[in-house]
Amino acid sequence: MNGSLEGVAVPGGAPASVIVGIGAYVPPNPVTNHDLTARLDTSDEWIRTRTGISSRHMVLPGQATSDLAVEAGRRALESAGQSGEPGHAEGVDAVVLATTTPDRACPATAPEVASRLGLGTVAAFDVSAVCSGFLYGLATAAGLIAAGTAGRVLLIAADAFTTLVDPYDRATAVIFADGAGAVVLRAGEPDEPGAVGRVVLGSDGSLSGLLQVPGGGSRQRSLGEPVKPGDEFLRMAGRDTYRHAVGRMAEASRQAVQAAGWGLADIDRLAAHQANARILATVADDLGIPEDRRLSNIAHNGNTVAASIPLLLADATADGSLAAGHRVLLTAFGAGLAWGAATVLWPDVKPG
Ligand code: UT7
Repeated sequence: MNGSLEGVAVPGGAPASVIVGIGAYVPPNPVTNHDLTARLDTSDEWIRTRTGISSRHMVLPGQATSDLAVEAGRRALESAGQSGEPGHAEGVDAVVLATTTPDRACPATAPEVASRLGLGTVAAFDVSAVCSGFLYGLATAAGLIAAGTAGRVLLIAADAFTTLVDPYDRATAVIFADGAGAVVLRAGEPDEPGAVGRVVLGSDGSLSGLLQVPGGGSRQRSLGEPVKPGDEFLRMAGRDTYRHAVGRMAEASRQAVQAAGWGLADIDRLAAHQANARILATVADDLGIPEDRRLSNIAHNGNTVAASIPLLLADATADGSLAAGHRVLLTAFGAGLAWGAATVLWPDVKPG
């Protein structure tokens, strides 16, 4: 399996996970490339041609990941309600929050999000897998459902990632952005609309140094010294990350499509983590997925880390480029390193 977990056999009779609601939220203030040129030695032309990004959204002062997550979660619950599913507190048994930017180091942010959504005392916890967070969260939610621990799960992927980015580092400040996306999953049948296929996951911690925030964790705090200036911010070896991203996403995608019993020619829509338009094009070319089947919103959202895939799915559903019955391939790659892929038979949902 070459370092990837393709998943174990689903126990006989275990339910599949089915998407029945979707929602997304971005902070209100778009920040354009021209806005960034005021403080960075960069240009609109460089950012557009090297990344595909024209503008992005960033949290307002005082706005935290939970604020984004609550909005997206509320919208996903509303969406489930519009689909004739329970869209309220009684409808969810667990909240899984994929984030690398929790409100605080301790505790997890998910319990507060569940509480603010009026979901009472449901199980709630965070999953930390950076840009692959939505797919790791999807596997976790599907596992809760397959095991019978939960009948319905609200999976939210949210990051206020710009809070980890050095505003004066042109290599990262032009790419990363903030946002949240969410789906409601319920137990169902593997062939019904909304069904999620086997989630393929992988990681390579020997390359964790390619993207990391050196300070702020137990490694640094155990020294009893303050964070060294700059160590509180993300450091990224962009070129090397790029190279690994393409290979890992293509490999995981092939495994997920095969696990679904589909061929690559069956894929109606590719929803890849919006890391960089050039990476997306290279992965899609490698997989032979034509341009009219590639979903993208990177131009106006940038790289929103864990939120990227559900935000893309919500946007594409809203504008009609993703429709009921489409066979969708999801794939992501990011810090960890961690990556993944999954298939979904897209359901008849409207974003809340
Ligand atoms: O979310 C998942 C994890 N992240 C990723 O997958 C990101 C992967 N990497 C990338 O997207 C790209 O590597 C970047 C967009 C970060 C950089 O693009 P690149 O084409 O790989 O550029 P580079 O790092 O090789 O740099 C080329 C040049 C350098 O100048 P010199 O050394 O050739 O003079 C950089 O200093 O571009 C320079 N540069 C910039 N110039 C203007 C780097 N950032 C900027 C900038 N504006 N913002």
